[in-house]
Amino acid sequence: LIVPSVLEIVKEKNFTTVPPRYVRSDQDSAEVTDDSSLSSEIPVIDMKRLCSVSAMDSELEKLDFACQYWGFFQLVNHGIDSSLLDKLETEVKEFFNLSMEEKKELWQRSGEFEGFGQVNIVSDDQKLDWGDMFILTTQPIRSRKSHLFSKLPSSFRETVETYSCEVKNIAKILFAKMASVLEIKSEEMEDLFQDVWQSIKINYYPPCPQPEQVMGLTPHSDAAGLTILLQVNQVEGLQIKKNGKWVLVKPLRNAFVVNVGEILEIITNGRYRSIEHRALVNSEKERLSVAMFHSPGKETVIGPANSLVDRQKKQRLFKSMSTQEYFDAFFAQKLNGKSHLDDLM
Ligand code: SIN
Ligand code: FE2
Repeated sequence: LIVPSVLEIVKEKNFTTVPPRYVRSDQDSAEVTDDSSLSSEIPVIDMKRLCSVSAMDSELEKLDFACQYWGFFQLVNHGIDSSLLDKLETEVKEFFNLSMEEKKELWQRSGEFEGFGQVNIVSDDQKLDWGDMFILTTQPIRSRKSHLFSKLPSSFRETVETYSCEVKNIAKILFAKMASVLEIKSEEMEDLFQDVWQSIKINYYPPCPQPEQVMGLTPHSDAAGLTILLQVNQVEGLQIKKNGKWVLVKPLRNAFVVNVGEILEIITNGRYRSIEHRALVNSEKERLSVAMFHSPGKETVIGPANSLVDRQKKQRLFKSMSTQEYFDAFFAQKLNGKSHLDDLM
């Protein structure tokens, strides 16, 4: 199932009406209201403090709180140079502005997951999101699709490779900090991410003349351990569901938005929560974001960590399964909030 390019749709002359496949009457906009007053309460974690000897404990507590009550936080002082983030922005814009002729070579083919396109497309009549995406496995290196990697413009490829390594290091530090505050044995958490499975999803949401009719990205929770997202050009749009209301995640310059994915919810037996989120678009500005997902290797078995469950004196909420089995279940359905995690209970 090959989806069209939204960027091409908006290039059409006199384009004013959204094609029916993008019009979302299936969304619950009526019952779920916005609550912007909560935006400023989304925790901000300082990575330097998290790694320092003197300030670590209070920052660890903050991290633990953020993962339990929000499932989301912004990460500042992460140590990735702003020049790399600027370069990424430039490269991503150039990459999405390649001609359709050039992009066709990199477009998802039937049954394929990586490349330009969208995810979780399971039927021909399914509604589509208002955005083009590019998806690529970046780690482990042996799992990269060489037919895609070799066709990437070389400066874009180099930037993605550098970025991938630096973000992976941050993810590993965060996993270790979470494991330490939760007192989970290393073989039950940290080690699972040793041979980390990392993929990148670049989202390009063109402006839309009828923004309230479409969805940039359908509400979902992430099929990952941890997602590290950059709101590349500082345009608002990401919202998370908190107490039944949508809360905007205001872009902070050079900060990452980090969120707990379903795999971490499974490993922590529900203590850390994978929160539903979505992306809206607007009529004026294009919006760009880069998400990096970090998961255990495909053969690794994931399930609630015994060392935590024993202390929680709680039932194991999830079945154990391999990462591959988990992914197969996730990607066989269209995006639909958090609903499919119930099947794994
Ligand atoms: C995502 O959830 O993958 C991206 C959200 C965003 O574009 O901010
Ligand atoms: Fe997401």
